[in-house]
Amino acid sequence: MSDIMQHLQETVNFIRKQVSGQATTGIILGSGLGNLANVIIAEKEIPYSEIPNFPVSTVQGHKGRLIFGELGGKKVWVMAGRFHYYEGYTAQQVCFPVRVMRLLGVETLLLSNAAGGVNPEFEIGDLMIIKDHISFFTENPLLGKNEDALGTRFPDMSEPYNKELIKKVCDIADRHQIKVHQGVYTGVTGPTFETRAEYKLIHILGGDAVGMSTVQETIAAVHCGMKVFAVSVITDLGIREEDNTITHEEVLEAAHAAEPKLTVLFTELVKSL
Ligand code: HPA
Repeated sequence: MSDIMQHLQETVNFIRKQVSGQATTGIILGSGLGNLANVIIAEKEIPYSEIPNFPVSTVQGHKGRLIFGELGGKKVWVMAGRFHYYEGYTAQQVCFPVRVMRLLGVETLLLSNAAGGVNPEFEIGDLMIIKDHISFFTENPLLGKNEDALGTRFPDMSEPYNKELIKKVCDIADRHQIKVHQGVYTGVTGPTFETRAEYKLIHILGGDAVGMSTVQETIAAVHCGMKVFAVSVITDLGIREEDNTITHEEVLEAAHAAEPKLTVLFTELVKSL
């Protein structure tokens, strides 16, 4: 068995000793979006620091625990806090928990993130359902020897974000009168926010939003056969005017403010699965 498969098995065995329940849905919560975890009726919470082979999240706004519990009447695995490439983890480390979830039986992965809006129609606090992504500005987590036990060498990326799940969430948003956009998420490494020229470039390239997470996790999830749904909270609008700046604090604040909408969408989506 390869090192990675051995590590995954070790981690899964550890978690399985603490939680025997099954869930086919996994959720990863983004920056400032950890409060959804409070809506979950938790059966078990495991701090990342206790989980063998899990990196420890260092970023402010990330609580760093794996939760098994109930949302919308369904059992779910939730990662409150994710690992970012900019923290110094390898792309494989960033995706490790996704693979752990897969081996725990997760088939559908829901992701949320905070992102900068580069589509001029977006406003701060809007939600954007990710319909596609651009991953070229980040490192592909599948570089290196392929783990055949997880998935194929050359995964198809024609539908990284499951169309049926997108349709379901659009219907839910309609019913609850929540405005949602659909768009292309551009993954970058961070940790710098983009320059004026970079925001402009991302828009020219076809991006509607830009952020420092999600694409690597999606690639790993698609590789191992999961359905993915992902949504961005638009927390800033890039740098458009002469004197505007962007801070992590305003990103977190905007994410917090939009969180109730996200909670409705995720809860209702899980209910419908
Ligand atoms: N750029 C990159 N990542 C982000 C941004 C942004 O403007 N906002 C929130 N995360």
